Amino acid sequence: MLRSVILAASRSSRVERLVETAPLTRDVVHRFIAGVTADDALHTTRDLVGSGLAVTLDHLGEDTVTPDQATAIKDEYLAMLAALGGAGLTPAAEVSVKLSALGQKFDEQLAYDLARQICVAASNAGTTVTLDMEDHTTTDSTLEILAKLRLDYPTTGAVLQAYLRRTEADCRELATLGSRVRLCKGAYKEPESVAFQSALDVDKSYVRCMNILMSGEGYPMLATHDPRLIAIGEDRARWFDRSPDAFEFQLLHGVRPDEQLRLSGEGYTVRVYVPYGTDWYGYMMRRLAERPANLLFFARAVKSR
Ligand code: FDA
Repeated sequence: MLRSVILAASRSSRVERLVETAPLTRDVVHRFIAGVTADDALHTTRDLVGSGLAVTLDHLGEDTVTPDQATAIKDEYLAMLAALGGAGLTPAAEVSVKLSALGQKFDEQLAYDLARQICVAASNAGTTVTLDMEDHTTTDSTLEILAKLRLDYPTTGAVLQAYLRRTEADCRELATLGSRVRLCKGAYKEPESVAFQSALDVDKSYVRCMNILMSGEGYPMLATHDPRLIAIGEDRARWFDRSPDAFEFQLLHGVRPDEQLRLSGEGYTVRVYVPYGTDWYGYMMRRLAERPANLLFFARAVKSR
């Protein structure tokens, strides 16, 4: 119920204005994002890579409405990839891209063209791109664009969301040689017709999907903070004989940092998803919707003012 309310608020421009101007916002936002500038993101990336973690950088922004906005976001990615390469942070750092930020909702061809330019820049910088997955109305389009990009840039990563009923089938399609697939639970408000609604059903689907990916031929990227799913991931790695460089765990910046270091200390590849930029509202609201403790953190920040 609370999750639904917050996710509905994440789409409201009125609530967005209220939250953005609230005095507490800075502290809360800084827990989850690296900062607003590319320099902030590079600084955080350097620290994380220095402590043995891999990184995927997300330039915040989604649902752009003009070609100029979409092109500006592409340019941000090109500059960031050049900076990562120049700073010797590749291949440890890659980038995550939301196609809706590149115009997917109004011009799919434009989104493909811009994503392709980002793949070219990533390849020149010696690293890779992963396409984030957004709400279910974009899944087919995102997987189609992924398939086209992978013809020339086969390491381009996909994201599949365990809460969608279709995802087991998508995992089977993508568990092939050379394919990189991030498996997450899913962060959007979705109707029962397309998505499991209970936490238990989502978790069970996650395990079924994980089994397909870990027993397949691709490179699974297990994105979760859930201790039970992480333990099952470790178990499946042993069961399917996957060495620590044949799959990875992924966690969000600011979430369970001790666990990130513990897993890395065990020898696993651990990639931290690091968002940066000024357009943080939708991202932050999805993080608040995921976990009541994040809301408590938010409330404490209000009280302390
Ligand atoms: P969930 O939120 O259900 O939490 C399960 C358990 O994990 C909790 O009970 C608690 O034990 C532990 N936990 C969670 N948060 C914690 C915290 N802050 N502190 C301590 N313990 C905590 N979604 C999407 O739709 N498209 C995408 O492209 C991506 N990309 C993506 C990349 C990466 C790297 C990650 C980690 C996640 C995504 N997501 C995503 C988000 C994802 O779908 C999901 O919403 C969140 O990861 C939350 O789900 P969890 O699996 O962490 O479990």
